[in-house]
Amino acid sequence: MEIIKYDHNGRGIGYLNDKIVFVSNTIIGEDVLVKIVEDKKNYSVGEVIKYNKKSEIRKNNICPYFNICGGCDIMHLPYNEQLKFKQNKIKEIINKFYGGKVEIKDIIYDKEFNYRNKVSLKVDNNVGYYKKNSHDIININECMLLDEDINRLIKKLNNIDLGKNKNIVIRKNTSGLMLVLDSEINYNLIKEDVSSIYINDKRIYGEDLYEEMNGLKFIISPLSFFQVNKYNTINLYNKILDYCDLKGTETVLDLYCGTGTIGSFVSRKCNKVIGIEINESAINDAIKNKEINNLKNIEFICGDSGKILKNNKYKNIDIVIVDPPRSGLSDLSIKEIININPKKIIYTSCDPVTLARDLKVLSEKYEVKELTPVDMFPNTYHVESVCVLEKKDV
Ligand SMILES: C[S@@+](CC[C@H](N)C(=O)[O-])C[C@H]1O[C@@H](n2cnc3c(N)ncnc32)[C@H](O)[C@@H]1O
Repeated sequence: MEIIKYDHNGRGIGYLNDKIVFVSNTIIGEDVLVKIVEDKKNYSVGEVIKYNKKSEIRKNNICPYFNICGGCDIMHLPYNEQLKFKQNKIKEIINKFYGGKVEIKDIIYDKEFNYRNKVSLKVDNNVGYYKKNSHDIININECMLLDEDINRLIKKLNNIDLGKNKNIVIRKNTSGLMLVLDSEINYNLIKEDVSSIYINDKRIYGEDLYEEMNGLKFIISPLSFFQVNKYNTINLYNKILDYCDLKGTETVLDLYCGTGTIGSFVSRKCNKVIGIEINESAINDAIKNKEINNLKNIEFICGDSGKILKNNKYKNIDIVIVDPPRSGLSDLSIKEIININPKKIIYTSCDPVTLARDLKVLSEKYEVKELTPVDMFPNTYHVESVCVLEKKDV
């Protein structure tokens, strides 16, 4: 079977007897012998048994766990091909689910490997990931996506008794490594390698973890969301700032604000920022961060974005920035944002399908001016986008 294109999850697409077949770890132009592992009415899923013809661009010597752990779907593609795939994926999804006119700029990218500052690991004597499509654990000694210090800690953890632990989280930010356990261990053996140890959200050793970006400091608690790719986060935030085009007089809403990072960046160039976030731990971090960074013109509110907007009836908001989870904006959030009537909306999204769905609704009142894809997750099929919308009657 010949692979003729990719689906949006980075799988190759070919046809057998006119039926579409999705096959992982294949490249356009390759000819493969496949075993059908799932056969549905309208499509099949195949696994490669043999490459009759391999692509010349296929990368060799990649991660030993590639196609086993399921974390990296497109690591076999050279990075420039990954970027082309993502650029094209955004274009197709926006055309299909939004359908309106929008200028799509070139994808912003940064480091290809060792960019992740957070990992969730399973424990089965040693630490590891779930195998692809299963709950079996594959033990790992390192992961090519993770920060080198996290990899060093993983090797160390594999040499000590992890007791009853089932799930472990490691974070690496400017101030060091945070280790989050779900059960006690003799941590004297790793104390020197980490800056803090938590059991769930209770700190049992060390100091607050913080990240430094553009002269600002952000404390991060175990349960708070923080962007996982430090290198491209700066580029993403700078693009958001660029799209805001602030003159200094604006009032800005930062919805789904997490630990207040975007709002803090923006607050230095506008009159006032209000950040809204549902996670209590993240909002507590945001309040601490405001104080540490001595930002006087920003306030944070904990709650559901849609409900807070409905209850507060904000007026004179110039710009609304949104950065929701994969599910996108709730119907209530969209309705309330439209009621607030800002001049501009800056929408950051980690799922182009929900982004396109929301753009369609917002485009009744707003013109979708421009979208920039951002590769926050190299070697996986995921892609972030940031989009600027302007009110139609201005
Ligand atoms: C993709 S993160 C963005 C965080 C932040 N803007 C940043 O760049 O770090 C999405 C955030 O939305 C928050 N969230 C999820 N549902 C929410 C809701 N209904 N209302 C407000 N915040 C919500 C999550 O807790 C998370 O912190």
